[in-house]
Amino acid sequence: MCGIVGYIGEKNAVPILLEGLRKLEYRGYDSAGIAFLRDGNLDIRRSAGKLKNLESAIEAEISSKAGIGHTRWATHGRPCEANAHPHRCGRVAVVHNGIIENYAELKAELSNRGHKFSSETDTEVIAHLIDERLLEGLDLESAVRQSLGDLKGAYAIGVVAEGRPNVLVAARAGCPLVIGLGAGEFFIASDLPPILGYTKEAIFLDDYEMAILCRDGVKVTDLYGKSREKNVCRVQWSPAMAEKGGYKHFMLKEIYEQPQSMRDTSLGRIGHSGGVVFEDFSVPDSVLRGARKAALIACGTSWHSCLIAKLWLEELARLPVEVDIASEFRYRNPIVGPDTLFVAVTQSGETADTLAAMREARKLGATAISICNVVGSTAAREADGVIYTHAGPEIGVASTKAFTAQLTALFLLAVRIGTLRGMLDSERAAFLLGELSAMPGKVEQTLSRMEEDMGRLARMFCKARDFLYLGRGYSYPVALEGALKLKEISYIHAEGYAAGEMKHGPIALIDENMPVVVVAPADDVFEKVASNIEEVRSRGGQVIAFTTNGGRKLEGKADYLYRVPDTVPCLTPMLMAVPLQLLAYRIALLRGSDVDQPRNLAKSVTVE
Ligand code: AGP
Repeated sequence: MCGIVGYIGEKNAVPILLEGLRKLEYRGYDSAGIAFLRDGNLDIRRSAGKLKNLESAIEAEISSKAGIGHTRWATHGRPCEANAHPHRCGRVAVVHNGIIENYAELKAELSNRGHKFSSETDTEVIAHLIDERLLEGLDLESAVRQSLGDLKGAYAIGVVAEGRPNVLVAARAGCPLVIGLGAGEFFIASDLPPILGYTKEAIFLDDYEMAILCRDGVKVTDLYGKSREKNVCRVQWSPAMAEKGGYKHFMLKEIYEQPQSMRDTSLGRIGHSGGVVFEDFSVPDSVLRGARKAALIACGTSWHSCLIAKLWLEELARLPVEVDIASEFRYRNPIVGPDTLFVAVTQSGETADTLAAMREARKLGATAISICNVVGSTAAREADGVIYTHAGPEIGVASTKAFTAQLTALFLLAVRIGTLRGMLDSERAAFLLGELSAMPGKVEQTLSRMEEDMGRLARMFCKARDFLYLGRGYSYPVALEGALKLKEISYIHAEGYAAGEMKHGPIALIDENMPVVVVAPADDVFEKVASNIEEVRSRGGQVIAFTTNGGRKLEGKADYLYRVPDTVPCLTPMLMAVPLQLLAYRIALLRGSDVDQPRNLAKSVTVE
C-alpha cells in the first residue's frame, strides 16, 4: 500500500505535497518523491528512506502551482531512489498505488518500441504509455484514458505533464482515491488526511473512474470519457481520526483491511488453469519439486501461520514438514541440508531470531524462501527467493492482516509445490484456488456479522483473569493465535491448547471463572471437539464456540455459539481468526490498554 497526493491551485504546491505525504507515511515509508510544474517545466525530486530525506533534497525556494507526490510501500523493486515515485517518461510524471499485473508484458512491448526503463517497478510502464500517446498528439486526459485501457491489476494514479500546467489527471481501479474540493484549489489523495486541512468537501472516486482537475474545477468520467455525476461528501473526521480511516485504532483498521490484503496477496498469482505463479521468484521449480522436506521457521503470529502451512504442505504436497520457533531452531543442531526447503515467515522481515535461523539454514546448504510483507527488508534480501504478502504497512503491534495475508501466500505456495510434485491434480488445484479466491468475501461477511457479537462477549468477559483457547487440526494454531492476540493487547493470561490435550492437564483449570474459547468448524475432527466442549461444560466451564454452518449440533451445547461462513475445512483458519481478533480488540478496549502499542512489545523484534 502506498500513499499518493496531488495539488493544483494558486498556492505553492510543494509544501502542500510534502505535508500531504507526511500524513500518509503510515501507508508506506521506504521512499518518497514529488513532481511539480513550474514555468511549464516538469521537475522531480525523489529520495530513498523516510520523508525527511526528501524534504532535505528540496530547495526551500522552489515554488509551483501543481504537482503530485508519493510515499512508497514497495511491492515491485527494491526501496531505492531509482524505484521511488514519481516515475517519468519524457514529459509525463506518474505516481501510483497498486499492482499492475501485466507490467512485464507491457514493459517488453514498450522496450521493443525503443523505450528505455530506469526502474524495476511496475509503475514506470504507465508513464511510458502515457508519454507515447502524448507524442501521438493526444491531450493528457485522452492519453491517460487510453493508457489505462492497457493495464490489468489495481491502481490509483496521479499524472502531470510538462507543457500542461493547468491540468492534473487521476484515476482508480481497486485502490482508494479521494478528490478534495477547495476554493479554487483541488487535491487528490489516497486517503483523507492530506486534504482535511484545506477542505471538508470530498469526492470518492469509484473503480474505473478518472478525475480531471483544472484550476476552475473537477470533471469525473468513466474510462470511455462519459461524464459521471458524483456526490460531494462533507467529511466530519479530524485529521488524526482520518489517518486511521475513521477507525479508533490502526489494529481495528487493519482487521477490516484483511479482505483487501488477502486479495492483493493473491492478485496476479492465480493462473486460469489452476496454476500458481509468483512474480520475480528466483527459486527454480526443480528445488520446489525436489525438496525432501520443508522447514518452516518463524516467531509469534508468523509461527502460527507456519503450523497451518505445515498441514497444507503435508496434505496437498505430501511433503514432510518441520515447524520451529526461530529461537529454538538455531540451537537444536537442526538436520538441514541441500534437500531442505527452508521457509522463513516474517511480516517485518527484520525479526532477529528468524533472520539468524535463516542464515544458519543457508549455511547448512538449504534453499531459503522468505514470506515477507516488507519489500527490500533483510529477510527479503537474504533469502534465495521471496514471496511478498501485499498487506501494506501493518502499524498495530498485534498482527492481524499480516497473518491472513501470510496464510494466503503460504496456501498458494502449498498448491504450487503440490502441483509440481504431482500430488495435486490441476482440477483439485483449481477448485482450491477458487475457494481461496472466495475467502476475502467470506472474511467480509464474517466481519459484518461479528463485530457487535464480539463487543457483547467482551463486555461479559473483559474482567476474566484467564482464558483457555482450544482447537484441533487446522484450528489448533488458530486457538494459539487467538490466545496470543488476547494476551498481548489485553494483558489477560490466555493459553492456546490442542483440544485433545485438555484432558492431559489443563482440564484441572476449568471452572466458571475461566472462559473457554473453542474453535470448532464442521470438519473431520468436529465430533471430537464437540466432546471436548461437553467435558468443559460438565465441569462448570463457560464455552464460547466458533463454528461453521455445519456445526449446528453445538447449539445448546456451547454457552455462546457463533458461525462463520462455510468453506473447505483447510481454509477455515482464515475465517476463524477474524472473530478472535475482534474479541481480543474489544476486550482490550474495555480494559483501557494501548491497543496499537501494548506495553513491553515492539512491532518488530530486531534483537535476539
Ligand atoms: C503478533 O501479534 C506479534 N506482534 C508478534 O508475535 C509477531 O508476530 C512476531 O514478533 C513475529 O514478527 P514478524 O512476523 O515480523 O517476524
